[in-house]
Amino acid sequence: MCGIVAAAAQRDVAPILIAGLKALEYRGYDSAGIAIAEGDAIRRVRAKGKVREMEALYDADPLPGGTGIAHTRWATHGVPNETNAHPHVQGRVAIVHNGIIENYASLREELKARGRVFTSETDTEVMGALIDDLLSDGRSLREAVLAAVRQLEGAYAIAVLSLDEPGRVVGARRGCPLLVGIGIGENFLGSDAQALIKVTNRMMYLEEDDVVEITRESVQVFTLDGKPADRAAHESELSADAVERGEYRHYMQKEIFEQPRAVADTLEGRIGQHGVLPNIFGIDADPVLDRTKQIHIVACGTSYHAGMVAKYWIEELARLPVVVEVASEYRYRDVVVPEDTLFVAVSQSGETADTLAAMRESRRRGYLATFAICNVPESSVVRESDLRLMTRAGPEIGVASTKAFTTQLAAFALLALDLGRRRGLDHTRYLKLCKELQSLPRFIESALRIEPQIEELAEHFILKHNALFLGRGVQYPVALEGSLKLKEISYIHAEAYPAGELKHGPLALVDEDMPIVAVAPNGPLLDKLKSNLQEVRARGGELFVFADEHAEMDDTIEQGVMVRLESGGEFISPAVFTIPLQLLSYHVAVMRGTDVDQPRNLAKSVTVE
Ligand code: G6P
Repeated sequence: MCGIVAAAAQRDVAPILIAGLKALEYRGYDSAGIAIAEGDAIRRVRAKGKVREMEALYDADPLPGGTGIAHTRWATHGVPNETNAHPHVQGRVAIVHNGIIENYASLREELKARGRVFTSETDTEVMGALIDDLLSDGRSLREAVLAAVRQLEGAYAIAVLSLDEPGRVVGARRGCPLLVGIGIGENFLGSDAQALIKVTNRMMYLEEDDVVEITRESVQVFTLDGKPADRAAHESELSADAVERGEYRHYMQKEIFEQPRAVADTLEGRIGQHGVLPNIFGIDADPVLDRTKQIHIVACGTSYHAGMVAKYWIEELARLPVVVEVASEYRYRDVVVPEDTLFVAVSQSGETADTLAAMRESRRRGYLATFAICNVPESSVVRESDLRLMTRAGPEIGVASTKAFTTQLAAFALLALDLGRRRGLDHTRYLKLCKELQSLPRFIESALRIEPQIEELAEHFILKHNALFLGRGVQYPVALEGSLKLKEISYIHAEAYPAGELKHGPLALVDEDMPIVAVAPNGPLLDKLKSNLQEVRARGGELFVFADEHAEMDDTIEQGVMVRLESGGEFISPAVFTIPLQLLSYHVAVMRGTDVDQPRNLAKSVTVE
C-alpha cells in the first residue's frame, strides 16, 4: 500500500526520497511522485507506473532543495494516473497521504462552497485544501495540521510541507504507520524503517494520533491536543544489506531460500533438549497460558493460513478449542467470547488494518489477554498486545509471503507444544515433537534441493487457466496457501479444497485441462486422500502429487507427476510441504513473465480497510 518518505536536510533530498520510494516498492503501488520546496516554489514530479518512470522524468529535470516529500500511491479514491498521484498541492501546501479519509466528500463540498478548486479525485487533495485553509487563518503549519486532523474520520499517515515555513515537514498518523528517522543535521519521515535505513538507523516510532514536526535540527512530537510528547528513539536492527536482492533474480526467490535460516532464527533460544524454554512468550505469559481455555486466532491472507494450521496442532496437542477467523469478518461480527479465551493476532507486518482493528475490537470483548505472532518488533500489533512471539524472519519484500509463513508456523509450533505440555501432553511424545521441530530447518533445506524438478514441472502450468489444490487434515491449509501463492503471482485461478469435499462440487470442474495438486505426506488421512485422487484420475484430471519419500502410492496415482520429498515427520510436514508449492508458483510466474515481487493490484502491507 501507499508509501511515504520525507526529509529535511541541508543537502538535496530528491535522491534520498527516490531511494526511499524504491525501498517501499514492495508494499505495492501504481503511481509515484515527489515534491520539493525550494525558494518560493513547490516543484513536483509525478508519474503513473513505477518509481523508475518518475525517476526518468526527474533525471531530465532535477529538483534541487533540502525539504521534500515523496509517495508511492496504491489507488483508493480515483484511478491510478498522474493527476491523482501524490504529492497534491493546494495553495501553499503540498501533501502525501496513506490511508482513507471517510468524511472527505462532505469536507470537499464545504471547501468547494468556499471557492476551492480540486484537480484530482482524491481524498488527499481535500486534506491539503483543508490545511491550506487553516493556514490562512494565521496558524503555523503544525497548528493547521493539528486542527485539520481533528476534523478527519478514517485512517491516515501524512507528510505536509508549506512554502510559508521552509525547511519544515509536518507528519501525522492514525491507523497507518509512520516513523521518524533521526540523522545528524537532517531528519526524515518514512512508512517503515526500510525506507530510511540507508540514511540512518536511529528510528522513533510514532503513536496513534501523534503529530510530528521535523526540521534539519529538530524533531518534536505532539499529541492530538497539541501537547508535546516524548517518544523514545531506537537503533534499528535492520541492516541495509537485508533489503538487498543479492544474487537472486527476485526477492521472492531469495526469501524462499532464506527459510532454513529464518526458521532456525525463530527457534533459536526458544527450544532446547528438554523442550520449549521458559518465558519465551514474555514473563507475564505463564498465568495466562495456564488459564487459557480456548483460543481465537485472527489474521488475513497467508497469516490466516498459518492460524489454520495452528488450529490442528493446538487442538490435537493441547486439547484446547481453537477458532480461526479472517480479521475483516471478525471485526464486524458479534463474536461470542467464552471465559478465559486467548486472542491471538498473526501478522507479518503488524500493520494490517483489519488485523489491527480486530485486535483493538477484541479489547472490548473481554478476552483473557492478547497475544501477537509477528515479524516486525516495532509494529502496532506488537506494541498493543499483552504477549508476543516475534518470528524473526527478517524483512520480507516480495508481496507473496513465503518465509513469513514458515516462521509463523514455527512460532505456532512452539506455542502448541508449550500449551500441550501445560495440559498433559504425554512427555515422551512432547520431547519427540520438540526434537522434530528442531530439525525443521534441515528438512526445509532438503525440500529446497528439489527446485530443478519443480522448475520442470512448472512448465505444465504455463498455459493453464485454473488449478485445484487438495489436502486433508492439517495439509488442507497448506493446499490453501499453495493455491494463494499461485493465484497471487501467476494470475492463474486456483482454488483449494479439503479433498473429502471433492464430490460436493469441485469434481464437476475436473477434466484434462485441470491440473490437480495434491499435498500428500504420510499421515492418518493419506489413504483417504488416495481414494479422492483415484476419483480425480477416473475423470481424466492431471495429477501432481507431493508425497513422502517412501510413501506407497497406487499405480493409477503414480501415472500422474510424483514429487517426493523428506517430510521430517508428520508434525512439521505442513511447513516442509509448503516449500515445493512456493517454488512451483514462483517458477510458473517467472515462466509466464509476471511481475513476481509486485503482482498487479496487490500490496504487501494492507494498511487500509
Ligand atoms: C497482504 C499480503 C499478504 C499477507 C496479508 C496479511 O495481502 O500481500 O502476503 O499475507 O496482507 O499481512 P500481514 O502483514 O498481516 O501478515
